[in-house]
This record gives sequence, C-alpha cells and structure tokens, in this order.
Amino acid sequence: MLAEAIKTYQKRVDAVLNEHLNQLDDAAPHLKAAMLHGALLGGKRIRPFLVYSVGDMLGANISALDKAAAAIECVHAYSLIHDDLPAMDNDALRRGQPTVHIAFDEATAILAGDALQTLAFEIITAPCETLTPSQQLAMVSALAKASGYQGMCGGQAIDLSATNHSIDLQRLTELHNKKTGALISCAVELALIAANAPKAQHQLMMQYAQSLGLAFQVQDDILDITASTEELGKPQGSDEQSNKSTFPKLLGLEGAKATAEQLIQDALSALTKLPYNSQLIADFARYIIERRL
Ligand code: IPE
Ligand code: IPE
Ligand code: MG
Ligand code: MG
Ligand code: MG
Repeated sequence: MLAEAIKTYQKRVDAVLNEHLNQLDDAAPHLKAAMLHGALLGGKRIRPFLVYSVGDMLGANISALDKAAAAIECVHAYSLIHDDLPAMDNDALRRGQPTVHIAFDEATAILAGDALQTLAFEIITAPCETLTPSQQLAMVSALAKASGYQGMCGGQAIDLSATNHSIDLQRLTELHNKKTGALISCAVELALIAANAPKAQHQLMMQYAQSLGLAFQVQDDILDITASTEELGKPQGSDEQSNKSTFPKLLGLEGAKATAEQLIQDALSALTKLPYNSQLIADFARYIIERRL
C-alpha cells in the first residue's frame, strides 16, 4: 500500500514537473538542461508525497495538490544543487549522477538552483481553477518562509557555521529543524491550505510534520554512516569528511537511532488524535526511519 502510493505520487509529480520544465523555451539550453538534470533525475519525492497523501486524507482536490507538489520539489531540487556546490558540501555525486556543478559548471549550477526556486513560485501562482487566490497567496507565504532565512537557508547557514565546531543538542536541533524540517513541514502545510482544513486540525498535523521533518534529517545523518554510496546515490561519509555537526556525532549512532524512534512515536501520537484515516501517513512515518535511501 505505502510502496504503491509512493510510486503513484512520484509518477504524478514527475509528470507535472516534466510539463513545466519542458515548456520552457530554448533560449538558454545549457541552463535548461541543468535544471532538468537537477530536478528530474531520480529523487524520492518525499515532499510531494506528503502534499498528496495529506491532501488526499483531508479531501483536497488532487489537481489543486499538483501545483504545491511540483513547487515544493523545485525548491528542494534547488536546495540540493546549492548544497552540493564546492562552497557548501562540495559533493560530486547526487541521486547516482554527477552533481549539477560537475555535469555542467559551477555558474550554471548556481543559476539552475536560482531558476528552479523562482519556477516554484511561478507554478504556485499560475491561474488555477481548483485554488482560490487567497489559498495561493497562503501557499506562497508558507513556501517562502520555509525556504528562506527562517527555514532552509537559515538552517544551511547554521550548518556551515557548525562545521568544524561543536554545538549543543538544542542548537543542532534548531539547525536540522530549519535546514530540513521546515520544508517537510511546509509540504503538510500546503496540503492543509489546499484542503481548507479546519483550524482545529492544523496544530496536530503540524506536530506530526515537525517530528517527521526532524526525524528525516536525523535518519539522513545516520545513513551517511551506515549506508553505502551505492545505496544512497550520494557519497557515504560526506559528513564525517567535512566534520559536520550531526546527531550521530553528538549522541553516538545508538543515541541518534533512539532519537529518531522517539520522534516517530511523537509523530504517530499526534495522528491518533485526528478524526481521519491516517494509516498511510503513519506507515510513511515508520518508513522515514527505516529507509536505506
Ligand atoms: C536530501 O533529501 C537532503 C536532505 C534534506 C536530507 P532527500 O533524501 O529527500 O533527497 P532526494 O530528493 O530523495 O534525492
Ligand atoms: C542538506 O543536508 C539539507 C538541504 C537543505 C539540502 P545534507 O547536506 O545532509 O543533505 P545531503 O546529505 O547532502 O543530501
Ligand atoms: Mg549540507
Ligand atoms: Mg550535503
Ligand atoms: Mg546528509
């Protein structure tokens, strides 16, 4: 059931992304190719999955979810392209492919990230029959906040400042919540907006989202140690090599695993208080800390 739903939503968001990217003219073919490379070659599509599965659970129209799913994946793809740059993590492999600055060049990778980010906002603001302008405005606001200083970019800045330095658990939690948790939470928020979900349910759904988002990055840190480059499609041991601040480094591998497990229990306990059939997103929460990719 979960594996099937993941595949279905992967295909669905890929079709939407393909449509938007292939629609671009060929005035800057090198940049367009780099955007396609960064956005369409592989990727689990975790954030789109959350948009679709939470949206479906709440009774949203699926075509209203397409825009949110594609937009958030564009922001995520941009964040990965920039994360891999020599000035940041300096990684050469992503999704089993050369990273964008290796396959193309650094300037093109910077521009591909920039252009994917703005494409996200183009997608989410395009006229749409299934979303009201005020829903679209709320989505723009949520996505901008999760991506910028208060979210992903701010978290990446803390990540860089915590490289070669030790930080305490509170600061590391803030780092992970911002660099990764914010965008994952935003996927759930976009679904709540698309479904016009009752305010009473927002808080519990966001509790699920925040615990899941943090658990996702803790598991990413764990996989950097325990999975192989082949499994990951990105270089194993990158965090260790760059002397990054991670959960296993601070708490040990077993401590990090226990933290991830506790976060998933927190996510699941929020779901039990909701009046929906949340089986699929409960299974997804378990998958987040059991995955090997
Ligand atoms: C990797 O994200 C970067 C993090 C935020 C940990 P994903 O693990 O979702 O990467 P893809 O999209 O599946 O490649
Ligand atoms: C990246 O965290 C988070 C982003 C905002 C892209 P990592 O640097 O740990 O992600 P990976 O391991 O390279 O995918
Ligand atoms: Mg990084
Ligand atoms: Mg990285
Ligand atoms: Mg990582």
